[in-house]
Amino acid sequence: MRVGILTGGGDCPGLNAVIRAVVRKGERHYEDELFGFVDGWRGVVDQDFIALDVESLRGILPRGGTILGTSRITPYMTEDGLEKARTTIDSMGLDGIIAIGGEGTLSCANEMVKLGFPIVGVPKTIDNDIGLTERTFGFDTAVMIATEAIDRLHTTAESHNRVIVVEVMGRHVGHIATWAGIAGGATMTLLPEEPFDIAEVCEALSRRHQRGKYASIVVVAEGAKPKPGTVQIADEELDEFGHVRLGGIANVIATEIEQRTGFETRVTILGHVQRGGSPTAYDRVLATWFGTEAIDAVHDQAWGQMVALMSNRVVRVNLGDAVAELKTVNPQLWDVATQFFA
Ligand code: F6P
Repeated sequence: MRVGILTGGGDCPGLNAVIRAVVRKGERHYEDELFGFVDGWRGVVDQDFIALDVESLRGILPRGGTILGTSRITPYMTEDGLEKARTTIDSMGLDGIIAIGGEGTLSCANEMVKLGFPIVGVPKTIDNDIGLTERTFGFDTAVMIATEAIDRLHTTAESHNRVIVVEVMGRHVGHIATWAGIAGGATMTLLPEEPFDIAEVCEALSRRHQRGKYASIVVVAEGAKPKPGTVQIADEELDEFGHVRLGGIANVIATEIEQRTGFETRVTILGHVQRGGSPTAYDRVLATWFGTEAIDAVHDQAWGQMVALMSNRVVRVNLGDAVAELKTVNPQLWDVATQFFA
C-alpha cells in the first residue's frame, strides 16, 4: 500500500515515536511505501510531502516535537481545500492516510471520512482530553515536567513563606492539573471543569496559614474559570485560528490572593515547557503501540476508526464518537485530589 502520515495541531512528545512505528511496521511487515505530509493538513492541500523509510528515521524515537512539522490549517479553511486534498491523494496514488492529532485534526478527519477520504486517526495531546481513549501519549511527559516543577517550587515557597500559583496547560479540562497536583502535593488545584470561588480559595489558604508558618502551592489549569460574578477576568484574545489565547489566569488568581489574604504570592506559568523535549518511557511505548495498530488499521481499511487505549489494550473506536465529547477528569480521582486541599 501507499500510505501518508500527518501530524496536526499542537505538538506533543511521542509524535515521532508514532511516525517511526508506522514506518517500521509498514515497510518491514507490509512492504508499504510511506510518505509524510509537511505541517499537517497543509501538506495534503499543497502536495507538500517527503518519502519516509526506516533508514531516514533513525534516532527519532526519543526526540520531542514532530519531524514532519505541524499546523492548525485544515482543508476546510479554503474554498478549494478539499478538492486539492483529493487531487493530492489521487496523484500520489495513496491508499490511506494516518492523521495523528487532537480534537481539531481528528474532527477534520472525521468530516473528511464522511466524504470518502480513507483516513485512520491516532489521538495525541498532552491535555489527555480525547474521548474513548484512557490515555493520549504526551500526557505522562507533561505531568512529569509539571510535577518536577511543583517539587522545586515547594522548597522556594517554604523558604520564603510564600504562596506560589503554578499554571499548567489544560484548555478545556484539568487532567494535567489534577495529576500533577496530586503528585506534587498541591495545596489546592483549580480546573476548567470546576469553576472556583476565589473567596473560598483565600479562606482555605488563610485557615492553613493560621495553623502555622506555612507556604502554599496552588495549581491552576490555564482554562480554569471563576464562578460567574466572582472575579473579573480580561476579555479573551483569539489567535489566527479563532482559538482563545490562554495563559494568564494564574496572575489574576495571585493578585486576588495577595490582596485578600496579605500573603506574599508569586506566579509560575509553565506553558510550552510541558510540551517540549523528550517523551517519557511510557509515552514512547504508548505512541509506538498506537503507531503499529494504526498501520494495521490502514491494511484493514478501517477508515473512520481511531486507535485508542482501553482497559490496557489498544483497540479501534469510531472517530466520530471519539471526537463527540471531550474526556473530563475522573470524578473519583478528583475526589482524591480534594482530600488533600489546604
Ligand atoms: O491542546 C494542547 C495545548 O497544549 C493546550 O493545553 C494549550 O492551550 C494549547 O495547546 C496551546 O496551543 P498553542 O501552542 O497554539 O499556543
